[in-house]
Amino acid sequence: MNHILYIKNAAQIITTTNHSEKPAKKDEMRHLQIIENGSILVEDGIILAVGEDDFIREKYTDDINQAQVIDAKGKIVTPGLVDPHTHLVYAGSREKEYVMRLEGKSYMEIMEAGGGIHATTVATQKADFHTLYEETKRRLDTFLLYGVTTVEIKSGYGLTLEQELKQLEVIDELRKNHPIDIVPTFMGAHAIPKRYENDPDRYVDEIIQRMLPVVAERKLAEFNDVFCEKGVFTPEQSRRILEAGKRYGLQPKIHADEIEPLGGAQLAAQIGAISADHLLKASDEGIHALAKTNTIAVLLPGTAFFLMAEFAPARKIIDAGVAVALSTDSNPGSSPTISLPFIMNLGCLKMGMTPEETITAATINAAHAIDRAKTVGSLEKGKQADIVIFNVPNYLFLSYQYGMNHVDTVIKRGKVVVE
Ligand code: NIG
Ligand code: FE
Repeated sequence: MNHILYIKNAAQIITTTNHSEKPAKKDEMRHLQIIENGSILVEDGIILAVGEDDFIREKYTDDINQAQVIDAKGKIVTPGLVDPHTHLVYAGSREKEYVMRLEGKSYMEIMEAGGGIHATTVATQKADFHTLYEETKRRLDTFLLYGVTTVEIKSGYGLTLEQELKQLEVIDELRKNHPIDIVPTFMGAHAIPKRYENDPDRYVDEIIQRMLPVVAERKLAEFNDVFCEKGVFTPEQSRRILEAGKRYGLQPKIHADEIEPLGGAQLAAQIGAISADHLLKASDEGIHALAKTNTIAVLLPGTAFFLMAEFAPARKIIDAGVAVALSTDSNPGSSPTISLPFIMNLGCLKMGMTPEETITAATINAAHAIDRAKTVGSLEKGKQADIVIFNVPNYLFLSYQYGMNHVDTVIKRGKVVVE
């Protein structure tokens, strides 16, 4: 018999519908589709109907009679949250660097002195598969508790073929076993390894000639990401790596204009990247170039918060017509958090976004940033039943009360996974 799940009596259902084909831009980001006193019916993991209580009760009486029932009275229902940018496979921690930064050292100074990404790379290279698997699984378990049901994860703490593959294999194994849907990104171009310090172009060659072919052949990644930054990969090197990835079927993503304005946003627009991430220092020209495309600006205010940097100009970016998503950037150095709801809160308080925009940014637009908008990111007939029930009376509470976990129930593919 088919498994039917019936969620009823929700104070509000935030559906974020109508943007599965194209991401929400400008005013579309703040025009949420809301059903008051709503119900959802799910059959075998797929959404069968979303609507007002009375309508669903009358139209689907037979289904309801055999359904598992969840009463969402006084609570709200949203699509499962989507985090489109994380670095979750790593070993070790960087709390000492945090203290150094509190004392005035910059993130890049620490990295140039062998800390930062290099420190996590050393720790991750030493860790065995099992340890990395268990540590990453624990992090994903916590993401789920905070309402996140789809997560992108990047490699990038290996920086040799063998070590990058180890990270990607951990991601692949978790994809098979973890309730969260995981989307894999290859990021061999996360830092210039110490062995190529004096000849970075040789590392670019190694990525292009040795790493990308194997990653693509083994189908271990869908996306190819580069840290385009002063002292890391130049725009020209980034372009070479991303163009090469495209030839292997890997869609480009860019860590763009995070610390210095290098033109990463323009590069993202030119090469048709699926997303341009960070953008703290993006120029007006870069923002306007992105506005002509459907490239998603993935903004990471947790990173600006934790690095005590200026926040990305989200208001300007949205008003210019760029589709914006939000993400944790979860990693041990620049954003050690697992809370996407806290990032939504920062979106409002530190980047001038409206609560409505942050919901769109953490659901359907985030799904677009990882090519999953056809299956997740909104609550509509035919989509995967990834659903969160929050114990709050209306959606404004999601960004109003901060640092709290309001998740009541998480449903993944029609099954209750957190209650
Ligand atoms: O997105 N900017 C580069 N990469 C990560 C940081 C990774 C780390 O510090 O370990 C980021 O902020
Ligand atoms: Fe990142």
